[in-house]
Amino acid sequence: MAKLKLGILISGRGSNLQALIDAAADPSYPAEIALVISNKADAGGLARAAAAGIATQVIPHKDFASREAFDAALDQALRAAGVGLVCLAGFMRLLTAGFSEGWHDRLINIHPSLLPSFKGLDSHAQALKAGVRFSGCTVHFVRPEMDAGPIILQAAVPLHDGDDEDALAARILEAEHKSYPLAVRLIAEGRVKVVDGIVRIADGDFAAAALLNPLG
Ligand code: GRF
Repeated sequence: MAKLKLGILISGRGSNLQALIDAAADPSYPAEIALVISNKADAGGLARAAAAGIATQVIPHKDFASREAFDAALDQALRAAGVGLVCLAGFMRLLTAGFSEGWHDRLINIHPSLLPSFKGLDSHAQALKAGVRFSGCTVHFVRPEMDAGPIILQAAVPLHDGDDEDALAARILEAEHKSYPLAVRLIAEGRVKVVDGIVRIADGDFAAAALLNPLG
């Protein structure tokens, strides 16, 4: 079967991009990375893509007079590369409603919290402040509202006494690197459907046990 072609949008270090590159290196993985686009020329992820022989493009948002014009350039590059699924991986620009509607249910994001808790940039600080026992990460389809849209997959990560933002971010990032390739696999295998705004997964493995923190 033909592999699902991914377009990955980044702005920074690209560790989630790397997780997808590593997953796609397995010949049995059902998706391949067609194009990596960064809005920043100095994004570390560009070197990761180049090292893996993946096509890259820098499309600086500052070169465009409006968000609409910038998003139109992204859209054109993705379509020219034959992309079937767009993955936001640390892409630090808000996309227009027109862009997200044009890629409806073919545009996903990873966010470092258990949505709908702790939207926005400072999710780790918000989790620490709230004193939750678990945070984690969420892979979701993108809708025009920030950090919203049907949830595909979540991973729960415990908070420890004495955690600071860096410690929590590092623990969650490990879970992100497992979650994003898994979510892409589920989509590429055709097992993900959005029904009335809720994601249904065909033949998923669902762990039955509850997690307890502390003393799980
Ligand atoms: C990740 O924490 C991701 O959840 C968030 O931005 C960060 C990107 O990290 N959206 P990286 O560039 O993938 O290393």
